[in-house]
Amino acid sequence: MTGLFPEFRYGGDYNPEQWPEEVWDDDVRLMRGAAVTTATVGVFSWARLEPRPGEFDFGWLDRVLAKLDAGGIRVMMATATASPPAWLAVRYPETLPVDERGVRLGFGSRQQYSPNSSVYREHASRLVRAIAERYRGHPAIEAWHVNNELGCHVVHSYDPESVAAFRAWLETRYGTIDELNRAWGTAFWSQRYDSFAEVDAPRAMPSFTNPTHSLDWRRFGSWSLLELYLMERDILREVAPGLPITTNLMGFFPGADYWEWAPELDFISDDAYPDPTDPDAYVTLAAQRDLTRSLGGGRPWLLMEQSPSAVNWRDRNARKQPGQHRAHSFNAVARGADGILHFQWRQAAAGAEKFHAAMVPHGGEHTRIHREARELGAELAELSATDVLGAAVPARVAIVFDWESWWALAQQAVPTRIDYPAVVLEWYAALLRRGVTVDFTRAGADHAGYDIVIAPALQVASRADLDGLAAVADRGAQLVVGYQTGILDRDLHAYLGGYLGGEGSALQHALGVSVEEFAPLAAGQTAVLDDGTTVTDWQEVVQVADAEVVARFATGPVTGGPAITRHGSAWYVATQPDSARLDALIDQILVAAGVDASFPAPVSGVETVVRGSTRFVINHSPDARTVEVAGQQVDLDSFGVARLTA
Ligand code: GAL
Repeated sequence: MTGLFPEFRYGGDYNPEQWPEEVWDDDVRLMRGAAVTTATVGVFSWARLEPRPGEFDFGWLDRVLAKLDAGGIRVMMATATASPPAWLAVRYPETLPVDERGVRLGFGSRQQYSPNSSVYREHASRLVRAIAERYRGHPAIEAWHVNNELGCHVVHSYDPESVAAFRAWLETRYGTIDELNRAWGTAFWSQRYDSFAEVDAPRAMPSFTNPTHSLDWRRFGSWSLLELYLMERDILREVAPGLPITTNLMGFFPGADYWEWAPELDFISDDAYPDPTDPDAYVTLAAQRDLTRSLGGGRPWLLMEQSPSAVNWRDRNARKQPGQHRAHSFNAVARGADGILHFQWRQAAAGAEKFHAAMVPHGGEHTRIHREARELGAELAELSATDVLGAAVPARVAIVFDWESWWALAQQAVPTRIDYPAVVLEWYAALLRRGVTVDFTRAGADHAGYDIVIAPALQVASRADLDGLAAVADRGAQLVVGYQTGILDRDLHAYLGGYLGGEGSALQHALGVSVEEFAPLAAGQTAVLDDGTTVTDWQEVVQVADAEVVARFATGPVTGGPAITRHGSAWYVATQPDSARLDALIDQILVAAGVDASFPAPVSGVETVVRGSTRFVINHSPDARTVEVAGQQVDLDSFGVARLTA
C-alpha cells in the first residue's frame, strides 16, 4: 500500500483573509516552527475572491500561495463554494434554502444555499472554473478540497426547484408512476399518485409521512449533495487535471450515504470533534476512523479537521487536557490517517468562531496549545520515517453499517425508537475493549476476507444482502445477526413469514430461527436472562427451527423465550445485552473464529491497534494506566501513547 503523501501531512485550515497581510509572514514562520506541512486555503473565501458577480480578485491569494510555497508549505486548495457572498442572496433569493415549513433561511451565517439551486450551481461552477484556471499547475498545491462538509447545515431545501429535481429523480428511479405507487405502498391511507407532478417533498404534515417517500427524500438529499461534489470535481478534472480531489466527510453523518460517495473521492478525508469531557468519546472516535478507512477500501485517509482544544458550539466547551489532543491525533494515525489537519491554524479575532481553539491561539505562540501543536508536528515528522505512513490497518472483523437502515429506524412510525449508530457502537465497543480492530462494511459487500461478520439492526436489506450474510455462515465464518435485521426490503416492505428476509430465506436457514413477534421493552426497563445477565430495549418471540438456545429470557414480556441462539457458526441475538454480557459473547465468538484479542480481558479507556509494524496503545483517560497488551505490560502516562513493535 502506498502513502497518500511522501510524508505525514500536518497543519490545518488557513484563513489569511481574516488577517492583515503583515500577519501572513508570521504565519509562515510559525508554521515552519511547528513542522506544518499543509495549509487548507480558501474554504470560506468566496466573497473575497468574487466581491461582485463575475469580478474576481486573486491578487491576495496569489501572494498567500507564494508565501506558503516559499516556506515549503503545501496547499490543499479549497474551491470556496461553501458560503456564497451576500450579493448571491440579494440578487437571487431563490438560492436560499427553504425549510420544511416553507420558511426561507437568511443570509449572515454560512452554507445558505439550496443544494438544488441552478443559480447557485451556475455561480459555484464559474468560481471553481476561475480558481482552477488561475491555479492549475501551481507548485504549492497538492490536492483540491471541494466545498466544505457538504450538507453539514442544510441537506434539504423545500423550494420549488428542489421539488422539481426530486420529481425528476423519482422518475429516473421508478420509470412509471405505477411503480412508484407500488414501491411506496400508496394503497395505504389513500396516497395514490396519478402522475409525478403530484408528488411533493415530505414537508410538514398532519401525521406520519409515507415511509418510502421519506426514505426517497433522504436518498435524494444524499444524491443532490453528491451531485454538487461531482459538479466541482469534474470541472477540476477538466481544467486542472492531475491532482487528487477530496471533500471533507463527517463520519457517521445522517445526511449522506457515504458508501455512495466514497468511490467518487480520490482519497477520503474526514472531520471529527470529540467531546473532551466524555470518557467514552474515544469509542465513537475510533469507530469514526475505522468507518473512514473502510469507506476508502482500507486505503490511507486524511483527517481534514479537528480542534486542537475546545470547540465553540457545545453548551459547555471544555478544553482538551494536556496530552489529550495528542491521544486523539494518534487515534487517527493508528487507524489509517496519513495526515492530521485542524480547524484552524490561527484563532479568529472576530466572527462566529472566535472562541474556537486553533493551533495559534489568541494568546500567541507562547501558550500550551501552540507548544503542544509544535510537539505533535515534530513527532509526526519523525513518524514519517517509519512504515506506519501508508500502511494498512488489518482487520478480521466486519460490522455492517447501513445508512438506509439508519434512516428507516429514525422514522416516525417504528416498532420502538432505536438509535441505530448507538446499537452498532455497542458491538464495536465490545471489540474495542478487547483490542480487536474492526472494518465497517456495506450491506451486500463481499465479506470473504473476514472471520467474523456482525449485522446489528440491519432493518432494511435486500434479499441479496441477506443471502450474502447467510453465505458467511455457510463457509464456516462467524456470523452474528442482531435484532431488527432483515425486517424490510429496500422499498420498506415487510418480509413476510418470520422476518430475517422472510419465509424460507437463506438467512433463516443459516440461523435456524425466525421471528414471530416484537416485544420491545420500555425505556429504561431491564430484563434478565437465564444466565443472570441483564438486557435492555428489546425482546421478541423467536421460533427455533434448528438452533441451540444459548440463553433465554428469564423476565420480561417474553419470559422463557430464546434470547441468544447459535446454529453452527451463525448467532442470533434477540435483545440488547449489557456490556458485560456482550463482552462474554464476543469472547466466545472470538474463540470460535480463532481471532486473538490484544487485551486478555476487556479494557476501558485504553485502545490498541496495529498499523504497519507498530502497535499503538493509547490511553484516553487522565490517569496513568498499566495494561497488558498482546502479552506485554505497558505503562501509560495520563493520555499517554505507546508505540511498540507489533
Ligand atoms: C466544522 C467546519 C469548520 C468549523 C468547525 C468548527 O464543521 O467545517 O469550518 O466551523 O466545524 O468546529
